[in-house]
Amino acid sequence: MHKTSEWLQSFSSEKNLKNPSRSLLKDGFKPCRKISITGGKGGVGKTSIALKTAMELAKAGHRTLLIDCDSNLSNTAIKLGLPLDNKFEKLLSGEATFEEVVIQLGNFHLLPACNGSTEIFESKMKFDEIIIDVISSHEHEYDYILLDCPAGVTREALTLNAFCDNRWVIVTPDKSSITDSYSLIKLLATRFGVKENHLLINMYQNEKQYQNVTNTLTETIQNFLGTTTHVLGGIKKVEVSAEAFDTFFLSETKNELQKNFIKLLYGFTEKDGGPTALLSNGVTQMAHEHDVH
Ligand SMILES: Nc1ncnc2c1ncn2[C@@H]1O[C@H](COP(=O)(O)OP(=O)(O)OP(=O)(O)O)[C@@H](O)[C@H]1O
Ligand SMILES: [Mg+2]
Repeated sequence: MHKTSEWLQSFSSEKNLKNPSRSLLKDGFKPCRKISITGGKGGVGKTSIALKTAMELAKAGHRTLLIDCDSNLSNTAIKLGLPLDNKFEKLLSGEATFEEVVIQLGNFHLLPACNGSTEIFESKMKFDEIIIDVISSHEHEYDYILLDCPAGVTREALTLNAFCDNRWVIVTPDKSSITDSYSLIKLLATRFGVKENHLLINMYQNEKQYQNVTNTLTETIQNFLGTTTHVLGGIKKVEVSAEAFDTFFLSETKNELQKNFIKLLYGFTEKDGGPTALLSNGVTQMAHEHDVH
């Protein structure tokens, strides 16, 4: 067996024995669901989608933690307009606790990483092991833990993906993103035994393009890797500046784009049988009135 997956398995089972959320399972409690937002290629919308998902889950009453796994190019706090303080360094050195570093905005908690920290750059610590340790120590406090993964197919990123219950692979309709997402899924399958992934097509321009990307990827993955792909849906490309998109997508105002995305999330939590339905706050009707794509 591959070394990393060996470690991962032993680590998971060892922690699970001690983990209160697992023992609560017996009494009918749902365990925390861990989802990585990933994709291989950079700039495909992972961070925007991770933030929006976390904020909507929290708004619907789920205790949600978003962990920024882009260790030294953290973007989550920037997109929310929060100050950057590299406090995560202190968590690694043991000078601060998780509670002191995590940003709490109601049900939505954010653990940002660092920006250009020399300590992180020089650190010999394994980032994937640190994040898995954080998750294992705190998952009993949350309904959902989301990981905003960095671009690339490093061993650390793949280990974090494999550790999660679900992987949302974000793909844009260009050849490099399609190829990179296939490479990610292939490595996850062959080196970590990951058999299922979710697919989300971002920045598609029309229905035909959405269908082409979805069919090409799901069929190729099934035929060549034998793994299953669950299609979550898509988000259309919005013809605005990069900055303006985040304002449009993350703001409180419920525009068409947001409503469609909430419907996409609803589809996931409904199938997932999530802790409770996502749209428990009265937006069910609104979501059903709009198409996902
Ligand atoms: N559907 C969309 N339409 C238009 N612009 C979008 C869309 N989705 C994301 N963007 C924009 O694309 C840019 C990249 O998004 P984001 O930072 O979320 O990508 P990423 O995959 O996290 O990037 P990185 O790999 O660098 O971490 C952002 O400026 C975002 O606002
Ligand atoms: Mg990002």
